[in-house]
Parts: sequence; structure tokens; C-alpha cells
Amino acid sequence: MSQVPHHIAIVMDGNGRWATRRFLPRVAGHRQGVESLRRCARACLERGVAVLTVFAFSSENWSRPAEEVSGLMELLALALAREVPRLHADGVRVHFVGEREGLSDKIRAGLAEAEAATAGNRRLTLNICFNYGGRWDIAQAAARLAERGEPITEVALDRAMALAHVPDPDLLIRTGGEQRISNFLLWQAAYSELYFSDCLWPDFDEAALDVALAAFAQRERRFGKTSEQLLSHNASHARA
Ligand code: IPE
Ligand code: IPE
Ligand code: MG
Repeated sequence: MSQVPHHIAIVMDGNGRWATRRFLPRVAGHRQGVESLRRCARACLERGVAVLTVFAFSSENWSRPAEEVSGLMELLALALAREVPRLHADGVRVHFVGEREGLSDKIRAGLAEAEAATAGNRRLTLNICFNYGGRWDIAQAAARLAERGEPITEVALDRAMALAHVPDPDLLIRTGGEQRISNFLLWQAAYSELYFSDCLWPDFDEAALDVALAAFAQRERRFGKTSEQLLSHNASHARA
């Protein structure tokens, strides 16, 4: 059985501090964060990870200084133009996950274009959570079911969620030293293995990813069962 997680989710935190330590404006840290994401996506591809989901802008990040918010929007527009062709060439399918309302028409068009252009790619699915919040996702899924008059069950909610096109993340990494979820995948991370790194996101390189993957490989995922049950299950599979 492969020890490489099928789906990795990352809270890419620490860009601001990375910049401040260098006496640079915070947006310079976000710019470096895009570089780090490109490197990380390539590394995931090479390691056989099928899905990478990253937190790029939270529902709460609108409360940052206007200058930083507009810097992030400009950076998104720039990344759409510059990074999407590279991702496409690498066989990456890009999805944007989050509330589109509140984003400019130009950005919305750019997101749709990037998704359409990469829709046929199969090597890696990259979900970019932008203007995303876990609470928003649960609420929008429930609202969709209510609108259709469908009963609210776990399965129905799961299917109406913004990440219904991929299985739940196996490994959830947060860089930047904080040990909190900050309204990321509240529903989908129910059984994800959590991994916290002190590394600031722009510094999170292949070696740091490999340390996280090695930690993941050591975890025993029990999903509510006992360790003994898992061992006897594995033993019977080995015999079969
Ligand atoms: C994460 O880095 C990126 C976004 C939230 C957009 P931060 O900007 O939160 O960096 P720190 O936590 O201030 O260092
Ligand atoms: C989480 O980071 C959001 C993203 C990485 C996009 P924050 O920096 O916004 O989280 P808090 O405010 O420290 O919890
Ligand atoms: Mg932060």
C-alpha cells in the first residue's frame, strides 16, 4: 500500500512574516508565496500526489488593510496570466473553490477561463481556495439542498460541498507555526492527519514537504477502529 497521501491540503501561512523579516512590504511575501506554491505543486506531481488543495485567501482576509487586499487581488490576476499556462503544461487541472461573489468581473472571468483551459488535465488536481471559508461551504451546501427540497443528510451535504469532486484530504499541513484551522476545510478535514510546520510558507521547499510526508507515513489512521482491528485486517489482506 502506498504511503503517499492521495490528497494533501495546505494552509499556506507565514508570507507576511517572511516579508517583514526582510524589511519588505507584506505583498512581497505573498509574491514569494506564489513561487513556493509552484514548487510545491511540482513536488507533489513528482511524488505521485493526486490532489493538492491550498488556502490562498480566507473569507476573513477581507478585514486586512485595503492595500494588502488589493495587492492580493492583483497578485491573483497576475498568477492567472503567468502560472496557469505553466500548470497546464505540467498536466495540472485547476479548480477555484470559494465564493465568487465579491470578486471583480475580470477575476471571475479569469478563474472560469483557467478552469476551462485545464479541465482535461489528469496528472494533478490543484484546488485553490480563494474567498473560501469552511463555514461558508457548509452553509452554501445546506442552502442548495434546501432550495431543491432535498433532505439534509451527511451524504447529500457532502455531495453539495465545494470539494465534492475530490475525496477528503489525507494530510492537512499548516505552515507558519500556528496550530489552528482558521476556518479551512471544517467538514472535509474530519479524519485528515494534521501536520504543523514552523517553516514560513515561502521557505517551505521539497525537503520540508518530504519531512511532512515522512511524518504522515508514520501515522496510524484508525477511523474510529482499534489498532488491533487494523493489524488483523492488514494481516488478512497480506495472506489473500
Ligand atoms: C498567508 O500568509 C497568506 C494569506 C493569508 C493571504 P499571511 O499573510 O497570513 O502571513 P503571516 O501569518 O502574516 O506571516
Ligand atoms: C489562514 O491564514 C488563511 C490563509 C492562509 C489564506 P491567516 O493568517 O489568515 O490565519 P489567522 O488569522 O492567523 O488565523
Ligand atoms: Mg497568517
